[in-house]
Amino acid sequence: MRTVRAGRSFRKPEASQEQEMKTIEIVYASKTGTSKDVARRIAENLNSALKPAEIQAESVELSGRNGDSTPWAVIAGGPINGMRLRQDIGNFIDGEQLFAVFSVSYLVKHARKMWQKSITRNVAEHASRAGAETYRVFGGRAESAMPGFARFLFGLPADMPMETLDMSEVDEWSGELAEKLRSRI
Ligand SMILES: Cc1cc2nc3c(=O)[nH]c(=O)nc-3n(C[C@H](O)[C@H](O)[C@H](O)COP(=O)(O)O)c2cc1C
Repeated sequence: MRTVRAGRSFRKPEASQEQEMKTIEIVYASKTGTSKDVARRIAENLNSALKPAEIQAESVELSGRNGDSTPWAVIAGGPINGMRLRQDIGNFIDGEQLFAVFSVSYLVKHARKMWQKSITRNVAEHASRAGAETYRVFGGRAESAMPGFARFLFGLPADMPMETLDMSEVDEWSGELAEKLRSRI
């Protein structure tokens, strides 16, 4: 059964809390650090954009999150494994009311369209279950070159770079997030 913690997203402050800093948590799961880097970059960008509005963002690893805090907004993301969001972060997303969802995927920009669509659809479905306003799938990183059979299966070019993540896309998306969040203050 889906559990949504009441009022976790965009809580209207009580009169006594009116002056308190609003917090944004960027919750991530990450094996090799890509999702962690993206979560940190989003936090940095949101802090630059929203600190003057008394909003503070921080990235938090899913496994180390105690869940006691009640952030004003939650963003969550993690890697694509087996053409879908890694299970632990996928389950977390499905049980929360979130503002936004992101994923990182080594193949999403280069694989055949069918695979690209399958990855994007999976992330979109998780985002929809979490009631998220927006989602984005970024590139990722490979630990080693893809073997020939995998390149053939996924329709990858022979000169596939080891990194397909473009941080300028993360910066651009962060700007969109900041705009949406500002409109909710
Ligand atoms: C076990 C495993 C399965 C993976 N499966 C996929 C996949 O199906 N599609 C894809 O695009 N990338 C896949 N990747 C690549 C990851 O998306 C990529 O390495 C990403 O940068 C990892 O993010 P992280 O460092 O946050 O874990 C896989 C990586 C691992 C380790």
